[in-house]
Amino acid sequence: MSAARKPEVLVSRKLPPAVEARLLRDYRPLLNPEDRLYTAEELLARAKSADALLICHTEHLDADLIARLPPQLRVIANFSVGVDHVDLAAAAARGLIVTNTPDVLADATAEVTLLCLLGAARRASEGERLIRAGQWHSWSPAFMVGTQVTGKRLGIIGMGRVGQVTARRARGFDMQIHYCNRRRLPPELEANAIYHPTLESLLPQCEFLALHCPATPDTDGLLNAERIALLPDGAIVVNTARGSVVDEPALLAALRSGKLAAAGLDVYRNEPAIDPAFIDSRNTFLLPHIGSATRETRDAMGFRALDNLDAVFAGADPRDKVV
Ligand code: DGY
Repeated sequence: MSAARKPEVLVSRKLPPAVEARLLRDYRPLLNPEDRLYTAEELLARAKSADALLICHTEHLDADLIARLPPQLRVIANFSVGVDHVDLAAAAARGLIVTNTPDVLADATAEVTLLCLLGAARRASEGERLIRAGQWHSWSPAFMVGTQVTGKRLGIIGMGRVGQVTARRARGFDMQIHYCNRRRLPPELEANAIYHPTLESLLPQCEFLALHCPATPDTDGLLNAERIALLPDGAIVVNTARGSVVDEPALLAALRSGKLAAAGLDVYRNEPAIDPAFIDSRNTFLLPHIGSATRETRDAMGFRALDNLDAVFAGADPRDKVV
């Protein structure tokens, strides 16, 4: 393909070097070396002559912005598995193809789920803060006592790829897996996990609860005060999916009252401007949305997004077409 005929791709954020190298080889990319977060107007201005957008979940493509995208644009390739930041109906109505990057981030995200689970249960943030503040003065049998993980019941809401890897890793701690999913998994994937057709049946079993469902209008605020009340007293909640799945004021109230022993969170409704009550809370283990943040996974996400672009510009159906 001659340089002039290479499709132009607006890349919204700085991507791993190997991914940008492939972009430079195969496309005319408009890169963002300073990794600035573009406003909607800046994004539209930069996309003026683009044939494709390669964006992250930090870019919010609502119906208004999609309506103003240039007419030659064919595809929105997401560097993410989640696509809740894109108005899919508006994109489909304009005939745009939208793709995501499933599969490749399951291992990394499940690692962070286990990190959140262990960090919350064993009070890792509190311990770290204490040492860094020079306030660790002695050891005692009552000092920093947390919740043991080994052998406990873990409930998983959303048994897709990340949920399944989380279950496998948690079995390494002899955890018993319960799950709720739209569909029951076949026996080889279920691997003796106990299926619950409803949250009402799942939640009372969950000494630990991990959220792995996608953010959709149906899952908005799914873990609310009524459902938290169904968890056993002293349960621990872990969220590495999306902040919108949790009713955050209800979660904070349950953490304050002691209904929940702790929470381990990687995602928040208004990230990065999270509710300051989380920062003041003692019994939370907080991470800044790093579920997929390993070198291996970020490369794999970029290559998967590029495979999808390659397919579109070769006239084929991309493997990860969402709409
Ligand atoms: C995803 O892929 O959805 C991650 O949360 C990063 O956006």
